[in-house]
Amino acid sequence: TYVIAEPCVDVLDRACVEECPVDCIYEGKRMLYIQPDECVDCGACEPVCPVEAIFYEDDVPDEWERYTAANVDFFDTLGSPGGASKVGVTDHDPEWIMKLPPMGE
Ligand code: F3S
Ligand code: F3S
Repeated sequence: TYVIAEPCVDVLDRACVEECPVDCIYEGKRMLYIQPDECVDCGACEPVCPVEAIFYEDDVPDEWERYTAANVDFFDTLGSPGGASKVGVTDHDPEWIMKLPPMGE
């Protein structure tokens, strides 16, 4: 799977959402998350993110390793809905992400 990491926080550019052929990039309050069971590893999202927030799971920088877990934990309540567009914007994030200081520009 691919993982969205810290540069997405408070930026939420959403360019990635348009590229994903399986609509598996879901919107939280402060960032977006890739559903790890739905992502087919096509990689189309990675180059279009203007802040380079998206990584293949093996390539997530060490300092952002906890975002790999966040992209799993975000789906604790949602499960595998099979499409982000029908879910729409949610108002939650994993607890520690909600508590991050303001980021982005
Ligand atoms: Fe976030 Fe980049 Fe997508 S900022 S919403 S991962 S295009
Ligand atoms: Fe979609 Fe990116 Fe995975 S485009 S299928 S989330 S690699």
